[in-house]
Amino acid sequence: MITLDGKVCVVTGALGLIGNPLARALAEAGGRVVLTDLDHGACVDRAQSLGGGGGDALGHGADITKPESLASLLAAILDRFGQIDVLVNNAAIDDKFGGSAPHESMFEHYELERWRKILDANVTGTFLCCQVLGGAMAERSKRTAGTAQRTGGSIINIASTYGIVAPDQSLYRKPDGSQPFFKAPAYPTSKAAVLGFTRYPRRVLGRRRHPGQRPVARRRRERPGRTLRCQLSRAHPLGPDGDSRRLRRRHGVPRQRRLVVHDRRQPCRRRRVHGMVSPLSLAEAAARAARIALVLADNDGVMTDGTVYVSANGEEMKVYNVRDGMGVERLRERGIATAIVTREPPALIARRAAKLELRHLWTSVRNKHAHLDRILEEANVSLDQLAYIGDDLNDLEIIAAIGEVGLTAAPADAMPRVRESVHYVCTAPGGRGAFRELAEWLLRLRSNSGGQR
Ligand SMILES: NC(=O)c1ccc[n+]([C@@H]2O[C@H](COP(=O)([O-])OP(=O)(O)OC[C@H]3O[C@@H](n4cnc5c(N)ncnc54)[C@H](O)[C@@H]3O)[C@@H](O)[C@H]2O)c1
Repeated sequence: MITLDGKVCVVTGALGLIGNPLARALAEAGGRVVLTDLDHGACVDRAQSLGGGGGDALGHGADITKPESLASLLAAILDRFGQIDVLVNNAAIDDKFGGSAPHESMFEHYELERWRKILDANVTGTFLCCQVLGGAMAERSKRTAGTAQRTGGSIINIASTYGIVAPDQSLYRKPDGSQPFFKAPAYPTSKAAVLGFTRYPRRVLGRRRHPGQRPVARRRRERPGRTLRCQLSRAHPLGPDGDSRRLRRRHGVPRQRRLVVHDRRQPCRRRRVHGMVSPLSLAEAAARAARIALVLADNDGVMTDGTVYVSANGEEMKVYNVRDGMGVERLRERGIATAIVTREPPALIARRAAKLELRHLWTSVRNKHAHLDRILEEANVSLDQLAYIGDDLNDLEIIAAIGEVGLTAAPADAMPRVRESVHYVCTAPGGRGAFRELAEWLLRLRSNSGGQR
């Protein structure tokens, strides 16, 4: 834990979600905290509650977009404490769209007024705080330079991952696929500007090199470290510059996001998002995999690529992949049975099921979710011993039920809503290795959990 030892710490936006606990943490570390936000009365109340907790706090309202408001804040701080040691520029506005606002939050319809307001608070406000409050810090530092009481100070500007990477609009999408609003353009732009601006005052207000003083590595403090930036852009579906790539060495890690948009190798750089998997820690996924006793698979679009060949006399043919067959075998060797549940009649599937020595085959099942109790009973397994792979909308219900306690997957070419609902999205499409990939994923997870290999 840091010790601030009476240092005067100013937190802007101190009534907000992050500002409030931040102010409390600074007070608990021994700082004398100045809480400032738009509402003067609430700042005074919050400071009193902090002061009661052992800190020496001041609450004072200010609008960071107005120089005269900041000047009066500065006067109040200097009057009470005589100095500022730490300035946290935390206040900001993010778009709040009540209810459903897909239209007004869209880039095409985004209002200029909103854009100006957000840039004013987030960028101009940060600039003014650095100029007025930071200027007073620099002034004091200059006055005391070369003396035994030489002082310094720290300015911390709060940016956002959205200052580094573009917003992922799918995060704001509802499970039913509707988009109540889009992350609008002003906030990410303002946060990128905060990062850019932060490089500037350091040169103007920052430390001069005194004898014996170590220079601060130029880039270290001006923007997030390279490792952090790389991780952020890798973990983000858009990447910082729209370049397309997969996350390396993270196959099989739940919540992995697969591919990015604006793929340069695609004609016209079309949007290409291969989906993302839902939240589940690796440990939890491994624990679930260790329990799996039966893998249930849809037939068409999973075990086959969904194509049906029809001959002149009406005979139908479907194509299966031997690699998927090997997946069934590898699971069986490790004590995991495979079964097919499909709405199709048995005619075309029975032979393949017999060849694969599937323990169960449920055909002509129109509602797989409604059939689940019977599956559990006949297979003599519990819900948490099931894994399921499906590709179409009629699989969504059973995926949701099994996904609660078991594991779910979808081929790469499954319907988008299915891909968004499962734990694992295969890189292989249906009928061309998706089932094998699921089998290998489960076995890999089981070896992670220390289960059977
Ligand atoms: N919450 C998050 O998930 C998140 C993520 C990344 C970055 N951030 C950043 O962290 C900081 C705090 O975020 P938060 O979630 O606590 O936001 P918040 O909306 O809860 O709080 C922001 C505060 O700033 C104040 N404010 C707005 N305009 C002001 C002005 N002109 N003058 C003075 N005060 C003003 C608001 O009154 C509010 O109390 C912001 O800079 C935000 O961009 C937040």
